[in-house]
Amino acid sequence: MKSYTLTAPAKINLHLEILGIRPDNYHELVMIMQTVDLADRVEVKLLNTDDIILHCGHPNVPLDRTNLAYRAAELMQQEFPDAWTEYGGIDITLHKHIPIAAGLAGGSGNAAAVLVGIDLLWELGLTQGDLQKLGARLGSDVPFCISGGTAIATGRGEVISPLPSLEGIYVVLGKYQSLEVSTPWAYTAYRHEFEHEYAPSPELAIRAHRIHSGDLVRAIVAQDAVKIGKLLYNDLEKVVLPAYPLVNQLRAEFQTHPNLGTMMSGSGPTVFSLATSLEQAETIYHQVRAAISDPDLELFVTQFCDRGVRII
Ligand code: C5P
Repeated sequence: MKSYTLTAPAKINLHLEILGIRPDNYHELVMIMQTVDLADRVEVKLLNTDDIILHCGHPNVPLDRTNLAYRAAELMQQEFPDAWTEYGGIDITLHKHIPIAAGLAGGSGNAAAVLVGIDLLWELGLTQGDLQKLGARLGSDVPFCISGGTAIATGRGEVISPLPSLEGIYVVLGKYQSLEVSTPWAYTAYRHEFEHEYAPSPELAIRAHRIHSGDLVRAIVAQDAVKIGKLLYNDLEKVVLPAYPLVNQLRAEFQTHPNLGTMMSGSGPTVFSLATSLEQAETIYHQVRAAISDPDLELFVTQFCDRGVRII
């Protein structure tokens, strides 16, 4: 049976700034996103039956249409009914390595891999741009997960402008396994508290454009890891850290060890530190592990990677 195996890397946000509210009630964002080597493996194969079947060994991953990977297959079925009729159903297996509900876009990456995998199975010949347009209908982070690397994401997060890729930067990630933060909650809480600071809509595009010539982009172009570490920024920390003291404590612990910079990723609760070398990253890993004995805390050492979904 024809099948493809793909890797779907996690992402972190080097910058997440909330500019205002959009007519569609989403937030207008400017983000700088970065994929890392920590990745899920996604297998897609053709089925003889007329079904979408999802498998995953992780107990907290739903196997129905509440899973974005399932909805990615449904979207392909709707968009390409002739291919669906010709090839039949889709069997998807998710091998999870990225923590779930973590602010690392694990679910979005899985959906991105399903779109890419079905395009290959059905020999549709879609371009990256076509796949990203489809991905945007599933979730704001899906288009970035397809292309990956280092990129500016504007609009809802779905408008992607690639940046030069960054090499040799290591990352230590920390997440309490049982702690999940709802992304809609984080944005609603932010709106509740900071709506008075939102830019009026005519100004949104100008503000979004400013990031292209901003300090962090200049540091990325100059490959200046020290500056990049100092310029990390995430507006959602303002609501998530006060509401989740454990995340706040974890962030404080990460910060006590020499590193390039520490920040929460996306809507959390994952916290990360950047490191100049694998050795520095491993030292942070061991020191945080020694300081926090809670077995619920998961720690990972990984590094920046320059791609999104890829076939293996
Ligand atoms: O696009 P996605 O489904 O990943 O978004 C999840 C939720 O996060 C949305 O329902 C919305 O509450 C919030 N969100 C937002 N503005 C964005 C992206 C997400 O308010 N740009």
